[in-house]
Amino acid sequence: MRLVFLITGGIMVAIALIVGGFTFFQANSEELNLSADLQYRTRVLADSLAGSIESPLANHAITSIQSVVDRIAQNERVVGLGVFDSTGAVIALSSDLPQDISRNPLITKSMDSDTQTGSFAQSASGRVYVFANPLHYENQVIGALVVAQSANYIDATIWGIWRDSMLRLLVQLIFIGLALFALLRWVIFKPLSKLTESIRAARRGDIVTEDERGSHSFLRPLTNEISEISTNLKQARFAAREEARMRLEKLDSPWTAARLKEFIHAYLKNRPIIVVSNREPYVHTKGKNGATWSVPAGGVITALEPVMEACGGTWIAHGSGTADKSVADSEGRIAVPPDEPKYTLKRVWLTEKEIKGYLDGFSNEALWPLCHMAHTRPLFRTEDWGQYRKVNGLFAKTILNEIKHVERPIVLVQDYHLSLVPAMMKKSRPDAQVVLFWHIPWPSAAQFSICPWRKEILEGILGADLVGFHTQQYCNNFMDTVAGEIESRIDYEHFSIARNDHQTYVKPFPISIAFTGSTELKDIPDRGALERLGVGTEFVGIGVERLDYTKGILERLKGLEFFFASHPEFKERFTFLQIASPSRETIAKYREYAESVKTEAARINALFGTRDWKPIHLEHRTFSHAELKPLYRLAHVCLVTPVHDGMNLVSKEYVAAHDDESGVLVLSQFTGASRDLKGALLINPYSAENTAEAIFKALTMSPTERHRRMKTMRNSVRDYNVYRWSAELIKALTHLD
Ligand code: G6P
Repeated sequence: MRLVFLITGGIMVAIALIVGGFTFFQANSEELNLSADLQYRTRVLADSLAGSIESPLANHAITSIQSVVDRIAQNERVVGLGVFDSTGAVIALSSDLPQDISRNPLITKSMDSDTQTGSFAQSASGRVYVFANPLHYENQVIGALVVAQSANYIDATIWGIWRDSMLRLLVQLIFIGLALFALLRWVIFKPLSKLTESIRAARRGDIVTEDERGSHSFLRPLTNEISEISTNLKQARFAAREEARMRLEKLDSPWTAARLKEFIHAYLKNRPIIVVSNREPYVHTKGKNGATWSVPAGGVITALEPVMEACGGTWIAHGSGTADKSVADSEGRIAVPPDEPKYTLKRVWLTEKEIKGYLDGFSNEALWPLCHMAHTRPLFRTEDWGQYRKVNGLFAKTILNEIKHVERPIVLVQDYHLSLVPAMMKKSRPDAQVVLFWHIPWPSAAQFSICPWRKEILEGILGADLVGFHTQQYCNNFMDTVAGEIESRIDYEHFSIARNDHQTYVKPFPISIAFTGSTELKDIPDRGALERLGVGTEFVGIGVERLDYTKGILERLKGLEFFFASHPEFKERFTFLQIASPSRETIAKYREYAESVKTEAARINALFGTRDWKPIHLEHRTFSHAELKPLYRLAHVCLVTPVHDGMNLVSKEYVAAHDDESGVLVLSQFTGASRDLKGALLINPYSAENTAEAIFKALTMSPTERHRRMKTMRNSVRDYNVYRWSAELIKALTHLD
């Protein structure tokens, strides 16, 4: 629409300039013509009068001169006449000749030079043309005749030309503007946007009707071409589907988005998938130029977004962005990804009080530290628990509403924020198949037993048909916890828990990323990505995490300090780039942690840094996946050293970015990823010496060993990527029937 206004406005300005230019030239030439005509007529009048004045002047017949002057002065265009003697003294004047004209220097000038002289002047009666004609007797100049003619009519004519022209222009602009606007809006832009929409639909594989393609004849050749392309695309898609279907049986080949789609189609036969999580995959934020969107940092989104893109469906999550409401429909729905919609995001709105109690309080200050062995005391507040229960109820209600008309829906509930949802929704919809995937560690039974509401949480989780964890150890811990807290039949052979006629299976599904083995980066990144951040040393290490105390950033910094102290030869040759996304800043522990990280980095920089080099480069902001890829690829070593973590997908992203099979991963033995990534250098993050040794080993490792280790890790990430993860999860769920 803006463009339509812009083009219409531009054309109208151009028309106005052209018409203005033409009018200017027309008015100019008209003025010249009228002036020349006035000058000519004045000269003729003066010439004819001079003859009848010269002889009375020579004879001093003043009365006769005065009567000639009075008679001629009655002419309506003549402003006045005057006759002067050779000294410039007045002989006769018409009564209305303005005073200033009778003193015009033109009079003496014309007598002195003995030539007719005229010029335009401004007088009390407006613009006049003053003409002085020398008078002769016997070849002697005896005086001068002055004729003043009004030039006002010239100005009136010019003004008339401008006025008529501008009026015409105004009418033209109104009609041309309206016509242009209509033409652009309905004849050009509407069909073009229809065409764009149809191309988009064809790309998505939707059927595009003739009407949807737009039928304006001038676009016909283009629509024909597009219809050809979309037919070809359909054929190619069909071929790819067939190929994927054939590959389905071959489990050794890598899982891709297409293969997962085919798998879901075969297994679920169009049963829709609903994903539910606290964090939403796209957050819309109010900006100066309207709403902008971003993808939040965190493992759940990194893993599940590609799955939803491949399979479609609905993702229900808390709408946390400042512009979330304004871009969604009245039901809180929006098609995402925003630039190429593939599934629906349904946002759940929460009040400040609910966020404080359910999210900041119970989820992040109680359950999070309870499940992570990070030596931060969980805070159990009754008020938070109340809000947690209430918001879980709200999520359950939203899901039930969403699956109202769906038979045997599949619901994938994500993470510790929503532990009560499975039982809450199963009560009304026992036919729904529900998985709860717990993305963080499950602690030992003894550790979990300190939670005052442990029974309610376990009962909530046991509403699910399948509960997934990252590792077998977490499954074991969960089984032990249930055994100690809930009356149930525990089957350690099949890893199932039976109570009240309902069976819950517990299984490990190590989550992963969307890596299919293909080249991650089309071009080898130059060092510009690092240099733009101010990192220019020969060796670079990287760490990427949310500013969370479980991530072991402080322990890592200690390790780096130890490394520089014990290997001074790496001073000014190695920089550690720590990307730390702001996280959960409403919680005091997180703010304190962020401060400590900054202080610690500054301390180490002051200890070892030089004028041109800082050992630790701290970037306190969220980087997009696209920004991170070249940085991962350029880093010689990546440190993923949480003190305790569920999976930690950063390690897998680092591996995926290294299609040069170079780079070394230093991994905490307390991450879920350490079970999968056998080529990593495992460390105990609590030991600074251990971390420093691993950094040194990484930087001095032979290329052969580096390649061997990286290759092993890449194979493992490729073989068990997130497409396989979700396929296995869904296969396990559907096999429960
Ligand atoms: C972890 C949790 C996720 C969470 C993420 C980011 O990975 O398992 O559920 O979304 O951290 O935390 P945030 O509080 O920003 O959602």
